[in-house]
Amino acid sequence: MSDIGKEDFRKVMGSFAAGVTVITTVTPDGRLVGLTATAFSSLSLDPPLCLVCVDRRGGSHDALAVSGKFAVNMLAADQVELSNRFASRTEDKFAGVPYTLGEATGCPLLEGVIASAECVVTEVLPGGDHSIFVGALRKVTSHEGAPLVYFRAAYRGLVDG
Ligand SMILES: Cc1cc2nc3c(=O)[nH]c(=O)nc-3n(C[C@H](O)[C@H](O)[C@H](O)COP(=O)(O)O)c2cc1C
Repeated sequence: MSDIGKEDFRKVMGSFAAGVTVITTVTPDGRLVGLTATAFSSLSLDPPLCLVCVDRRGGSHDALAVSGKFAVNMLAADQVELSNRFASRTEDKFAGVPYTLGEATGCPLLEGVIASAECVVTEVLPGGDHSIFVGALRKVTSHEGAPLVYFRAAYRGLVDG
């Protein structure tokens, strides 16, 4: 038994500044799904793999498991609204949001992001109340621009050193 409480956990994990992503997918019956996620990481260079940790209790979890693919949308500094929208329980998160469907996977690619990666799920690993989705990168894009950063429960910008 750990004596680390939820507040302690949030405080320490929130001290790790992270870029903000929106993970999107499309289910076999054509439903578009997405959630805001900072628990994203590069995993392997050869083969090219990344991972994202998704709450098993969220609506997107099973959609990701069933579709077996996802797109990572790395948000730009001016996309706070998009981050909040995809972190909400909004019925249709994509309403009014400009996007295209990726060539490699058909997953939604949000406009205005600084980078995106289309992935095919290779493994779904257990991780407490989350699952770890491992994705093999199939197609990537990147653009100029500053990232949206999340640190200690607030959105931030990058400070140049
Ligand atoms: C900045 C930020 C980062 C988040 N990171 C994650 C994450 O890494 N994994 C996760 O499962 N939820 C994360 N969330 C919470 C989900 O975005 C939120 O619970 C969302 O409503 C889930 O959508 P769903 O119920 O449609 O799956 C984050 C929320 C915010 C605001």
